[in-house]
Amino acid sequence: MTNRHETKDITLDFTRITAAAAGEEHGISDKQLKGLQNRAGKIHRALMELRQKGEVGFYDLPNSDTSRLKKFASRVREKYENLVVLGIGGSALGTTAVHAALRHGFSHLLTKRKRNGYPKLFVVDNIDPDYFSELMDVLDPKKTLFNVISKSGTTAETMAQFMIVFDRLKKRLKGKWKKRVVITTDPAKGLLRAMVDEYNLASFEIPPNIGGRFSVCSAAGLMPLACAGVDIDGFLAGAAQMSARCETGNIVDNPAYLLGSLLYLADTAKGKSMAVMMPYSTKLYGMADWFRQLWAESLGKRRDVDGREVYVGQTPIKALGVTDQHSQVQLYVEGPFDKVVIFVKVENFAKRVDIPELFTDKKELSYLAGSSLNELIKVEMEGTRYALEKHKKVSITITLPEISANTLGQFIFMLEAATAFAGGLYGVNPFDQPGVEFGKNYSYAVMGRKGYEKLRNEIKEQSGKIPARIL
Ligand code: PA5
Repeated sequence: MTNRHETKDITLDFTRITAAAAGEEHGISDKQLKGLQNRAGKIHRALMELRQKGEVGFYDLPNSDTSRLKKFASRVREKYENLVVLGIGGSALGTTAVHAALRHGFSHLLTKRKRNGYPKLFVVDNIDPDYFSELMDVLDPKKTLFNVISKSGTTAETMAQFMIVFDRLKKRLKGKWKKRVVITTDPAKGLLRAMVDEYNLASFEIPPNIGGRFSVCSAAGLMPLACAGVDIDGFLAGAAQMSARCETGNIVDNPAYLLGSLLYLADTAKGKSMAVMMPYSTKLYGMADWFRQLWAESLGKRRDVDGREVYVGQTPIKALGVTDQHSQVQLYVEGPFDKVVIFVKVENFAKRVDIPELFTDKKELSYLAGSSLNELIKVEMEGTRYALEKHKKVSITITLPEISANTLGQFIFMLEAATAFAGGLYGVNPFDQPGVEFGKNYSYAVMGRKGYEKLRNEIKEQSGKIPARIL
């Protein structure tokens, strides 16, 4: 039986990070890669054990039942003009990235009919007061559904947004406000779950064994994406397709482990402490943003799993092809040897845009006449790769056969599995984020949250000791 969602596999080209291409000093040798295999086998077994014990859940998301989500989404499509996600970090970035990749680039300017009846999706992660109040100005509460997403149910930014929206809805809609709110949170724990019960609100669950940045294939991502018209079954089928390719612990046969190993070796053995993800596609730019959180928050750690101070992590950077050829690429090509560039290439764009046969008598333009934007973007990417290679700068290319729900599912699962695996290579826990919690606690203490008095006093004392130096 053929799966209607089955699409060609995404591919990984690592020729340009090898010692054969970039030389022994900067490139990774076969010996170095194979030298990781022993550890890779152990890490693979440890991860599979965590999966089996139900401690790490993202591996199982591709097989989720989506029927309730789809039913809910079809009601949202009938009733609402806007869907607003209130969430941050892992509760926002994946949704933003997938939506940006698959929607019409200017869907907010299309009529509802031209959007096939789907609501406009807004993902409001930041708490910029100007931006937030401008959004509130343009939304009609009667035509808007708010999806509050927080795994913990306590994140200050999301809860502050929710409180503002709660107040506005109650004032404008009186008793009907409850129909305009849907909550996505932990199935049992946290304040948001308690509020679901208290106010009898519609809700979805983020399983407790799924960390925020690994949650795009859970209801955290699937619910808003389904409402916005994304083929969530195709998306999960893509993730499952990649999951099947990642079942082996053999580095060279497992795309996620291969990618994780190459980036790890580039960082720790070749001094490439930065990984630049550079999609040659505006629609995929959000993917680089999503990856930045995943890679940075999972691997940037002070302590290893045994509690020793290690201060590890590779800094992920986002860049956009071709735009950043006129900005960052000069540095990447001629600057220090401290980066690995991950190109993300689209083999077939959905549309072809021809460049007309004009100005053929002008030598500055005749080479463009009769070509296409599709050809130009491809050649420019090859140009950047070539320039990097000539300067002994290393790169990896991930190619998507096309931009579709399926290929994005593949891409996302591959990077999640690569990150979990890289955690093992670095010897850190990729599923916690003590540094983020540290900052969260500061806000709680300074804003006067109960239970944080000790930290509040500590901060007060500390700031008194630091002389202000403002010019
Ligand atoms: O990956 C993570 O765990 C974090 O980035 C969280 O997603 C982010 O802090 C938001 O947390 P929450 O969903 O609990 O509001």
